[in-house]
Amino acid sequence: MASAGLGKVLLSDSLDPCCGQLLRAAGIRALELPGLSHEQLLAEIRDCDGLIVRSATKVTAEVIEAAGRLRVIGRAGTGVDNVDVEAATRKGILVLNTPTGNSLSAAELTCGMILSLARQIPQAAASMKDRKWDRKKFLGMELHGKTLGILGLGRIGREVATRMQAFGMKTIGYDPIVSPEDSAAFGVQQLPLEQIWPLCDFITVHTPLLPSTTGLLNDSTFAKCRPGVQVVNCARGGIVDEGALLRALQSGQCGGAALDVFTQEPPQDRALVNHPNVISCPHLGASTREAQSRCGREIALQFVDLAQGKAPAGVVNSQALSSALQPHCQPWIALAEALGLLLQTLAGPVKGSVQVSTLGAPLQKAGTYLSPAVATGLLDGAGHKHVNLVNGLLLAQEAGVQLTATHSAMVPESYRGASLLQLALPGTSTRLVGSVQGSTPVLQELNGATFRQPVPLTGPLLLYRAGAADASPLPAVLGLLGKAGAELHSYHGSCPVGGSVWSVLGLSAAGVALGEVKQHVAEAFQLTL
Ligand code: NAD
Ligand code: MLT
Repeated sequence: MASAGLGKVLLSDSLDPCCGQLLRAAGIRALELPGLSHEQLLAEIRDCDGLIVRSATKVTAEVIEAAGRLRVIGRAGTGVDNVDVEAATRKGILVLNTPTGNSLSAAELTCGMILSLARQIPQAAASMKDRKWDRKKFLGMELHGKTLGILGLGRIGREVATRMQAFGMKTIGYDPIVSPEDSAAFGVQQLPLEQIWPLCDFITVHTPLLPSTTGLLNDSTFAKCRPGVQVVNCARGGIVDEGALLRALQSGQCGGAALDVFTQEPPQDRALVNHPNVISCPHLGASTREAQSRCGREIALQFVDLAQGKAPAGVVNSQALSSALQPHCQPWIALAEALGLLLQTLAGPVKGSVQVSTLGAPLQKAGTYLSPAVATGLLDGAGHKHVNLVNGLLLAQEAGVQLTATHSAMVPESYRGASLLQLALPGTSTRLVGSVQGSTPVLQELNGATFRQPVPLTGPLLLYRAGAADASPLPAVLGLLGKAGAELHSYHGSCPVGGSVWSVLGLSAAGVALGEVKQHVAEAFQLTL
């Protein structure tokens, strides 16, 4: 699993020196090789346990495939668009980022862009270098009293808002997940997009690049804007459609644009960069000493945490793995994996829907990390190799298993308030109920049969079902165990249900001949946890 020690970590972009230093101080071999060619990267990554990049290295599916031992990819920055997260997830590789490390720098650059657009500072500076003294050409506008539309009110959007309010700008905006009450607290009045377009003197975008944000500003939305609107994109190329922006600049509908990011970086088509009303930077939002040192430091410390078995802060693709490193979640994750494996052993091959229910208030939010753990156990039981908490859900889905998580605060009275995890195959009587006692995962109930004492789900187990009215098969089973050289550690029996009783034997070694056990019982299964 990705939490195990990290031997060799490749730093393939130019990162703040503190990144390598912190890794080495923690005993991790940090190899700083910025500027590798694609072929060199494919060769170097082969025996690395970790990879840290900024935005120059493209961590494609091919790179991920070439990495025989890679467990974690760290992005010293926010956007992970240069990492094929799906390919990493499929291979069970954890992806980390530093979501807050460069927010202030990106916000400050955005504010600088707004001021530069209002007063044409870059154009005026260039004309001075050209030995000109043109005071009429650069008649600007005051920001005071103007309206700034902010699309995306996350970490950066809100920092831009409070800074531009200091210039007397009215800040309005839109974000589908930030509530109007929350945004009002940092001075942004939220409005539907359709109402925002005609009100703005300036529009700045601070969303990720998603299908829903690609071309957020396009021919049709530019047409709804105030003539001469000025636009800033310091987020991701493509949020403002580049063709539409050029057309709006040419028609005068857009009075000016400031771009730090492009769909292709560096842009091969220079039409926008060369337009007189466009100011642009080569993706400099995070390029400050402070942001680079923060991001380098934050990503290195997350790698150190991971190597030391602690939960890293910026997990992009596996909430389950971060939870697995929290001490209070670990026994529940072990229980979920064990119940998944037991379900596959008893009812396999499991296909279709599996219901994962958490019962009891302390497990209210646990479904998100217990479902991947159940999937891991199920696939493990089906003989899948290289399954872990990062790729469990994805691989289960591809194997035709859908896990649905439900939660109930209520626990049946017979369990005296203990929190429970229950797995069920809808439309069948297959149902497993487990819990955690101390830090031991235990089985409480199997297909409706409650165990008199909870069964610890650790080590090799032999389970069998026999008729309640029949003579106990235990002496015969013990004889077979003795012949196989397996010692009995524990015995747990269930209450009778439907005329039969389940028995679970804890053994010192696996590998009892099931065929022979089955001569004495209705059903028998073996598993090692
Ligand atoms: P964030 O996740 O904190 O905030 C993004 C916000 O966008 C979220 O609140 C989300 O709800 C909102 N959003 C999503 N879809 C939306 C839509 N259709 N309309 C309006 N809002 C929507 O991200 P952040 O850290 O503030 O970063 C914002 C952007 O800036 C990202 O694209 C990031 O990659 C980029 N960035 C660029 C630089 C740079 O160097 N230029 C530096 C850092 C971050
Ligand atoms: C980010 O996503 O963090 C920024 O675009 C900055 C960068 O790539 O360095």
